[in-house]
Parts: sequence; structure tokens; C-alpha cells
Amino acid sequence: MPVYTLTVNGEERVVDAPADMPLLYVLRDLLGITGPKYGCGVGICGACTSHIGNNVARPCIVPVQSIGAQPVTTIEGLANGGVLHPVQQAWIDEDVAQCGFCQPGQIMTAVRLLEQHSNPTDAQIDAAMSENVCRCGTYVRIRAAIKRAAA
Ligand code: FES
Repeated sequence: MPVYTLTVNGEERVVDAPADMPLLYVLRDLLGITGPKYGCGVGICGACTSHIGNNVARPCIVPVQSIGAQPVTTIEGLANGGVLHPVQQAWIDEDVAQCGFCQPGQIMTAVRLLEQHSNPTDAQIDAAMSENVCRCGTYVRIRAAIKRAAA
């Protein structure tokens, strides 16, 4: 199998994987990085959302061979040492999570939204977050947490 050198959460990781293996499987099964969740496996639910380069991405549909030198960031890579990312802290302060399964993906999408819009409107929040599904229906608290993190 081909060997790939990936930069994941700031660390170089070498993996031996089939070229078409989805990045999500590489992260979870080969590297033990389980923050990105397997929900639908077809790029629809957003549970696996992570960052590839500067983009929000769905690693369940991104083959490992396509990553190249782009850095990969998962929820595990957000905190700075022992200090949570402001979006993570806002999630705690607003008590967003219910079952929690979709929340890593929700947070990764919210982080990128706030990088693009430091004080997003409700419409911008709804547009950015609309493709991250939460079966518990925590959308109101997600919006509140994004506003708290932006403040
Ligand atoms: Fe990747 Fe659903 S598991 S989008």
C-alpha cells in the first residue's frame, strides 16, 4: 500500500493506506483521532467535519491520496495547549451539547465561519451551519454559542 505523510493537528503522521481510503477512516482507524465522527459516510450530515488547508471539509468523502501537503485540523487540534479555543469555550458556556455526537463537526464549521465573519448575522450563521445536522435539535444553543464566541 502507498505511504502518505500527513500533517494532522500540527504533527507529521505517516500512514500506510489504500489510495482511495477516506481521510475519516485514516484519522479514526489508523491514527486514533476520533473527534471527527462517522455519521452518514457520504458527505451529508457533517459529523466528520474537519479542516483541510483553509477549507471546511468532509473527510468521509475525501480520499487520503488527495490531501498532499495540506494541513488537516480536527477538533483535537483546536485547543492551544491547555486553553480551549474560544468556540469550544462558548460551547461549554452555552451548554450546547446534548448527545454530543455531531458537536465536533458543528464546532469545526463554526470556527471557520468566525474566521470569515467575525460578527456573523443570524442569516450568516444559519447559512454556514445549515449542512451540519443535529438530531437533538441544539440549533438555538449553537447560534447562541457562535454569538458568544464572536463577542
Ligand atoms: Fe461525513 Fe456525514 S460522516 S458528512
